[in-house]
Amino acid sequence: MSISEAVAFIRRKIEAEHVDVALILGSGLGAFAEQIKGVSIDYADIPGFPRGGVSGHAPKLIVGTLGTANVAVFGGRMHYYEQGQADVMRFPLEVSAELGVREVILTNSAGSVRDSIQPGDLMQITDHLNFSGLNPLIGEETDKRFVALADAYDPAIMSAMQAAAKRVGHTMHKGVYTWFSGPSFETPAEIRATQVLGGDAVGMSTVPEVILARFLGLKVGAISTITNMGAGMSNEKLSHEHTKSMAPVGAAKLSAILTEYFRSYQPNRAS
Ligand code: HPA
Repeated sequence: MSISEAVAFIRRKIEAEHVDVALILGSGLGAFAEQIKGVSIDYADIPGFPRGGVSGHAPKLIVGTLGTANVAVFGGRMHYYEQGQADVMRFPLEVSAELGVREVILTNSAGSVRDSIQPGDLMQITDHLNFSGLNPLIGEETDKRFVALADAYDPAIMSAMQAAAKRVGHTMHKGVYTWFSGPSFETPAEIRATQVLGGDAVGMSTVPEVILARFLGLKVGAISTITNMGAGMSNEKLSHEHTKSMAPVGAAKLSAILTEYFRSYQPNRAS
């Protein structure tokens, strides 16, 4: 199924000529998506859209306005661990790029491996460790596959988001996100290894999307809501139920930051 069919389908439903930013939402941000004024489209109705998704995520795309930006908000993502496809999010990202998107904001839930970053906190992702050994660009045949990942997390987006966080009175830690494939949680030994090797949080998503976004020439900003301490760091038993129950705590702060970030967003439609 071609990207152009999906793009044409979406274009028939939306008003905006140009979408500025795509947001891919992790668990707990459903309420944030609801506030977007715009058109809601079920993933299942979009021709060629990947199947899948995880409980706690809303399987729909909302295209509308947020502050001064035209946004495409993906209420939920597909993960590598669902079907063993590292490039499962390539289709939504390519569709976004075709709609004019130049910036992608990714959010997720993650476990902290640092005592200074606690459940309910937010962590802006400044860099990543790819501990899955996977790459969404394997099989890509053009030389474009050799994507540089220094500054993959855009410094200007990061500072604008930190400024927005400050204005609404929330703290956003900065740290390195470590991608494990999932769906099982990490072992305590893996968490200790992550600590030693320079990770600050662990999670099962986002990294392949960052690689794909950079491949497509899109700028990236990414934020984790911390739902738990990494395995072995507390007595909490890790489960998806626990993640879903904790995600809204950080998500409430993140919603306020995103709303503030977009309040005076200046779209860059020329490039
Ligand atoms: N590990 C991996 N993914 C996660 C975690 C975790 O501890 N918490 C939320 N998503």
